[in-house]
Amino acid sequence: MKFTVAIDGPAAAGKGTISKAIAAEFGLAHLDTGLLYRAVGAKVLAGAEPVAAAEALAPDDLTPEDSLRTPEVAQAASRVAADPEVRAKLLEFQRNFARREGGAVLDGRDIGTVICPEAEVKLFVTASAEARAERRFLELQGKGHAVTREQVLDDVKARDARDSSRDAAPMVAAEDAVLLDTTEMTIEQALDRARAHILLKMK
Ligand code: DC
Repeated sequence: MKFTVAIDGPAAAGKGTISKAIAAEFGLAHLDTGLLYRAVGAKVLAGAEPVAAAEALAPDDLTPEDSLRTPEVAQAASRVAADPEVRAKLLEFQRNFARREGGAVLDGRDIGTVICPEAEVKLFVTASAEARAERRFLELQGKGHAVTREQVLDDVKARDARDSSRDAAPMVAAEDAVLLDTTEMTIEQALDRARAHILLKMK
């Protein structure tokens, strides 16, 4: 079975949680494409050239997931992601992942528009910047990062602006994507909506 679920949206809207849960529930493979850009961003912070870092990216680069989930790496990822050459180097890997037998869930910013325009299911998961910043603040604080609410809100807004205004594959909902605004939803409610939509499309 080839069944692709494309989940896009801004940082901390709930895409990661929804993608993981949906993948587990429907037995699909899951790729968090933000991790690819984060791994390139981390290499650039360590002195590498962005396009060369993207070209040389290996599966092992994605394993130290926790160290890629810092605010510094997130900003570096958002910066390298604006480079069309970096995006081009990461394209094939994502498309191959999406084509795998058994189906896949990919989450990111351009999955429904550029990576998998033919995906059977497209969701655009969003929430207000304030709600997203609060969630990310609690998550980072829980991991022991010294951050303030204001810093996290500024970071979220800066990334939103950069990710949606770039020329190369900007963050935008695909025309045929279902919009899921999670501002006032619990994760269970958001998951119920996502699940209902997928079941409808699987028929
Ligand atoms: O989903 P995330 O917060 O881990 O993504 C980190 C950055 O990577 C994000 O700010 C923009 C970029 N990104 C992208 O441009 N395209 C994707 N498909 C996924 C992430």
